Amino acid sequence: MERQREAWSGRTVFILAAIGSAVGLGNIWRFPYVAYTNGGGAFIVPYLVALLTAGIPFLFLDYALGHKFRGSPPLAFRRLHKRAEAIGWWQVGISFVIGVYYAVIVAWAIRYFFFSFNEAWGDDPGTFFSSDFLNQNGDATVSFDFVPGVAFPLLVVWVLTLVVLAFGVQKGIGALARLFVPLLIVMFGILVVRALFLQGASTGLDAFFQPNWSALSDPTVWIAAYGQIFFSLSVAFGIMLTYSSYLGRKTDLTRSGLVVAFSNSSFEILAGIGVFATLGYMASLSGIAVDEVVESGIGLAFIAFPTIISSMPGGPLFGLLFFGTLVIAGFTSMVSVLQVPVASIADKFGIGRVPAVLSVGGVSAAISLLLLPTTTGLNILDVLDSFANNIGLVGAALVATVVVAWVLRRLTTLEDHLNSLSSFKLGIAWRLFIGVITPAVLTYMLIDETIERIQDGYGGLPDVLVNTFGWGAQILVIVAAVLLSFTPWRRKEVELEHVESVKVGEKQ
Ligand code: ALA
Repeated sequence: MERQREAWSGRTVFILAAIGSAVGLGNIWRFPYVAYTNGGGAFIVPYLVALLTAGIPFLFLDYALGHKFRGSPPLAFRRLHKRAEAIGWWQVGISFVIGVYYAVIVAWAIRYFFFSFNEAWGDDPGTFFSSDFLNQNGDATVSFDFVPGVAFPLLVVWVLTLVVLAFGVQKGIGALARLFVPLLIVMFGILVVRALFLQGASTGLDAFFQPNWSALSDPTVWIAAYGQIFFSLSVAFGIMLTYSSYLGRKTDLTRSGLVVAFSNSSFEILAGIGVFATLGYMASLSGIAVDEVVESGIGLAFIAFPTIISSMPGGPLFGLLFFGTLVIAGFTSMVSVLQVPVASIADKFGIGRVPAVLSVGGVSAAISLLLLPTTTGLNILDVLDSFANNIGLVGAALVATVVVAWVLRRLTTLEDHLNSLSSFKLGIAWRLFIGVITPAVLTYMLIDETIERIQDGYGGLPDVLVNTFGWGAQILVIVAAVLLSFTPWRRKEVELEHVESVKVGEKQ
């Protein structure tokens, strides 16, 4: 008999935790910019297509694997097929890399939350951010001088993350989600409503929603939509798979998935509205067009918003709300990202939760604290993020779909599992999306991104950075995944027949 796996106390807490994971930095700072630069209002078309043909189908695939096989990614894939374990470890590796840099953005947001009280960034938030706060040395050279102003909040983020994880699935992650997801919704709601009443808000919204239909014939717009959806929904890198492994046996999986997916997308579109209403205000103050005040993710949150906060009545309060939502959204996602390696090590080596948290969390925290609070930290973050999402995640998702659908031919079994429990039934469309459309799009994305990066490098950054933290980190993840898959299991209940003997949670 397998020892009892941790469990959510019910479906509601699972849904809250899944929303807490999905709604993160990707929604607040990434989506508005991606949408704007890829056709504005017209982006809604590829975005919805990507959501319906890849995001939601992949979410269902993650749920089916995690729930049917009752394990973290390596265990679930091992139970799917003896030779498939490495795919699970690949997903774990991607989560590990994401955790290393994700924490530092939450740490910055914490500092900026406190900076908001007295608008500590002064008259020039751009210089303040890169020079005074991050002590960056620019693009050309690589240096690792320590930046204590970032290291300290980063340490706080890591300690809090590990404490939550040490409390476990229900008392840690579940309790956090119950408290913070409703708070996030309320705070974000106030923020967006306030933004809509700013002078010039409508100009920003016009810019955001102005459809540029010709963008739809550009393949990069479609790639951007598919790239956004996987990270945003927390699918294909182990999170939703792991979370669903703690669900009770009789849970309506697909309906829960639809709630999570549509909540995430609503939040994303709302974030776009809030951010662009605010940028419209900035444009109207400075008398320049909205497209000239739009910045990419990091610039948007830590340069454009501070500039706006300084110029608006009640700015500090707006700043507290904005950076407060970033911290909460980011932290609930950060916890979910780290739970993937923690659960996987615990499953594989048969160790308890706390030793798993201390070992995996300790290693991730150490790497994060050594690399990110340095004078090259911003560039390292940029490279880690871009390669983890556009190369690692895309590659791992592609291999997972091809192996499940074509090599092992298990889509029907997984579909039966979902349909036997759920009110929203899947059919041939799901198999078509997961087996044909998603792998085709992912193949195109992977080839396109790889060729471009090999030819042009990345972002004009020094090769040593791109090779080490981009290609190097992603190759290391794959090598480690293969090696770990050949390491013997220390726990006893690995084989498929043990799945049926697992007792989890109450009926949900
Ligand atoms: N889904 C999380 C985000 O959007 C990781 O940030």
